[in-house]
Amino acid sequence: MSRIAVVPGSFDPVTLGHIDVIARAADLYDTLHVVVVHNPNKSALIPVEQRVMLIEKAIHAAGLPNNIVVASWSEGLLVDYCTQVGAKVVIKGIRNQADVTYETPMALVNRNLAGIETLFMLPEPGHAYVSSSLVRQVAALGGDVRPYVPHVVAEHLDAHAG
Ligand code: PNS
Repeated sequence: MSRIAVVPGSFDPVTLGHIDVIARAADLYDTLHVVVVHNPNKSALIPVEQRVMLIEKAIHAAGLPNNIVVASWSEGLLVDYCTQVGAKVVIKGIRNQADVTYETPMALVNRNLAGIETLFMLPEPGHAYVSSSLVRQVAALGGDVRPYVPHVVAEHLDAHAG
């Protein structure tokens, strides 16, 4: 049986912490879907299709294996995407207690809705303080985001600064 997992998120933008989790998850599953989910509660910096493209380029640049599919999902529940692609597992990176508090209700709802289990994964501690919102704030104020994001993302943010 093929083992398929999903790493969902806003990825606005994808960070080095995300890439670290994606790399570790891709090692554990036959196919890993990285899914950019449109979150109507968050105002976005980067359009969804560009977020997908940046993740694809970052994955390629990092030399990650070719069992990773990058997609977007705006049709509704994440569990519907999981069911559609045959995934029974969602993987989320956990940096701290606040992430556990934020992720736990979503994980339980996803399990109640469709029996999708969520596995929490620890990223490399060096990335533990990095978040997309921090990157957006540093970029908006003209700071250097290169320590926190893949090269292609830093270039994209530079090109769209202003
Ligand atoms: O990176 P984020 O913003 O923390 O990711 C949250 C995300 C997009 C994974 C979550 O909001 C989500 O799964 N949204 C899809 C809608 C859904 O399925 N909601 C019900 C269960 S949370």
